[in-house]
Amino acid sequence: MRDEDELDRLIDKLIPEAKVRLLTGADTWATAAEPAVELRPWVMSDGPAGVRGPSWDERHTAVLLPSATALAATWDEPLVERLGSLLALEARRKGVHVVLAPNLNLHRSPLGGRHFECFSEDPELTGRIGAALVRGIQAQGVAAAAKHYVANDSETDRLTVDVRVGERALREVYLAPFEAAVAAGVRVVMAGYNAVNGTTTTASSLLSTPLRTEWGFDGLVVSDWGAVRTTCETARAGLDLVMPGPEGAWGEALLRAMERGEVAPHLVDAKVRHLLQQADWLGALGPVGRPSNRPRPRPAAVRDLVRRAAAAGTVLLANRDVLPLDAERLATVAVIGAHAARTRTQGGGSAGVFPQAEASVLDGVRARLRGRAKVVHVPGPGLGGPPPALDEALSTDPDSGVPGVLLRVLDADGIELHAEHRSTARQLEPPLPDGAHTVEIRAQLRPRASGVWTLGIAGFGRMSLRLDGRELLAGDFPRETDDPALVHVTPPVHTVTAELTAGTLPLLVARRELAPDTGRAVVVSAAPPVPDTAAALGAATRAASASDVAIVVVGTTEDDECEGRDRVHLRLGADQDALVRAVAAANPRTVVIVNSGGPVELPWRHEAGALLLSWFPGQEGGAALADVLFGRREPGGRLPTTWPAALADAPVTSTAPSGGRLVYTEGLHIGHRGWLRAGREPAYWFGHGLGFTTWEYEDLTGPAQVAAGESFTVRVRVRNTGDRAGREVVQVYLARPGSSVEYPERWFAGYAAVHARAGQTVTAVVRVPARVLRHWDEHAGGWRTEAGPCRVLAGRSAGDVRLDLEVELPAAD
Ligand code: BGC
Repeated sequence: MRDEDELDRLIDKLIPEAKVRLLTGADTWATAAEPAVELRPWVMSDGPAGVRGPSWDERHTAVLLPSATALAATWDEPLVERLGSLLALEARRKGVHVVLAPNLNLHRSPLGGRHFECFSEDPELTGRIGAALVRGIQAQGVAAAAKHYVANDSETDRLTVDVRVGERALREVYLAPFEAAVAAGVRVVMAGYNAVNGTTTTASSLLSTPLRTEWGFDGLVVSDWGAVRTTCETARAGLDLVMPGPEGAWGEALLRAMERGEVAPHLVDAKVRHLLQQADWLGALGPVGRPSNRPRPRPAAVRDLVRRAAAAGTVLLANRDVLPLDAERLATVAVIGAHAARTRTQGGGSAGVFPQAEASVLDGVRARLRGRAKVVHVPGPGLGGPPPALDEALSTDPDSGVPGVLLRVLDADGIELHAEHRSTARQLEPPLPDGAHTVEIRAQLRPRASGVWTLGIAGFGRMSLRLDGRELLAGDFPRETDDPALVHVTPPVHTVTAELTAGTLPLLVARRELAPDTGRAVVVSAAPPVPDTAAALGAATRAASASDVAIVVVGTTEDDECEGRDRVHLRLGADQDALVRAVAAANPRTVVIVNSGGPVELPWRHEAGALLLSWFPGQEGGAALADVLFGRREPGGRLPTTWPAALADAPVTSTAPSGGRLVYTEGLHIGHRGWLRAGREPAYWFGHGLGFTTWEYEDLTGPAQVAAGESFTVRVRVRNTGDRAGREVVQVYLARPGSSVEYPERWFAGYAAVHARAGQTVTAVVRVPARVLRHWDEHAGGWRTEAGPCRVLAGRSAGDVRLDLEVELPAAD
């Protein structure tokens, strides 16, 4: 790495225009080049479940990992570190230098639209898992970006919301995971869209203190995409790089502000220095080095790792002696539900990728039982939600006759400028040749069922949909949001219905006129006739009662969980609750798999024989779930977030700002802390998860006295009392009853995972870091550890504490 003097010499070579030009992206994902200092551009890409690469194109597929919630549910930092390295190798394969992950915002409310993309309700667990991902990514020479700094924990009005949060909660809860990422050496921090305590984060003093002054961050601060709307305020703050570019609030305006003396030149130099330092770290500064010859992982090894991760994050919430299934004893298995055949492998928004492969639960079960047992699939009632994009299964390119669609770009006179075959009608970045005026998607539909189909088109501006020449929809759909995720990734879908006959090949032609500021995306979609609910439930019930086991897969749709908007309720959509109830009543050996990225209400949870939570399990999810169902792997997951029985019980039941402000009234008492304080019982506590064996907590030992300001360790002896080997996540919580300082009722302090054979006794050594012992003293403006007794509790979840002891803490600053 170049030292300060060398960097100063490089900065001196740049005129103000050149400096300012570097501080805004060259395009959507890349930074600008500067030959005068041998600076090459570098590329950033989302993150976090896969690396999309600089283009949003189905031909550029990515390895899709389980969602962040699932990664946190593994409570397995070495595994997460390996997955981070896999992301980095994907980044290298795609010419990406910075992965826009991890997302370190917290599960403050189950309504958070990006819940699936964040790790946990707990700052300590989020920090540990996030740091592991950072280490894994960066070990391969690719930078990670900790986002979104800070308190960007929900989506409602996310571009403007002003989060009001007390200094102590900000420090102990919301900043803590970022502090952990910085301690792990994260190279990039992304400032969010939101404001904190009256100042938008891209202009906030939090970008200096604590980030640089206290934590010693020496990397680069980048804005979230489109988050910079002012020149001087943001330029005077610790922000270094405005994304995307080349337009933006800095550029010329920043130059003028410097000339007027409104932004000091040394501030701009500091930003350029951070940018050059970052380029240096990435190998994008100076003469081109030799390309590194890092070995590419074998595809089979990648699939195996991702599959193992999905099983490791799967949480067994309840089991009434149903799981694991014995494949040898099954003649017929019913696999029920729309999510069984179309398992939702990822959440919606900027995190989305085109996965290189996707296995549904049905695929996984079929593969496992092939040649052994009969597998019957019943889709159950319709799900509602937006119709899925046309793909090779449902449409044919009328030009080539190949499954897929024909994408054309026309000029203002309707003359074709470009045409190509594509496999999906989800076109977020159609080509834009000179003179491009209209994007058209042509598809010959291949309806499998006769009846009333739902057809849809998504995008902004003038759009039309024609079926066999007949106009079904035409109109102007103005852009009513500034949110880039909604404009460019998930624009609203406009639907119509049409009668289609199986066996025919009707021609669907969708058009969207391009216009400034309306994005490029156009998505054409179709959903089959909605089955009659009673008939669908009847078919599911019959299949369940005629089978040895029924596996029902239920979950959320993109309408429920997606970046850019929060959820409005936690219910499973359509008739999914009725479906589970009907199937469970028909067959006590019913396994329910919940396929959602965040909490949903499970009112029938005591009726199911077994209940598994798959999250958004990534591309190998179906295979991994089959591994778990048939006992090839243990469901290794433990909840990283408390699941309410009903939304109304949760500590935070609304994410709607009032007068532009969202007040974090609960202070420190987020997640399980809030449940404990309210004395309420959730459906499942933070930390809960059964695995396939049982455990006895036998003994807890620790020091009587802790050294001032130091970490300490406790030992928890546990015995595997079941009849198979297993992994237990031994958790430690702290409490300070009787203290004069306000603390949570108890709070998570650390964990250790142990493996044991049936009957074996093992000892978990859990480190309690000094940082979870201290609190932020608002009066003194510093950290303090209060002297006095501290209870240390060991158990299986925040609500299932088995052993406790007391240690004496000396005061520390
Ligand atoms: C999201 C970021 C993302 C960025 C680039 C924003 O809308 O909030 O998480 O990295 O877009 O896609």
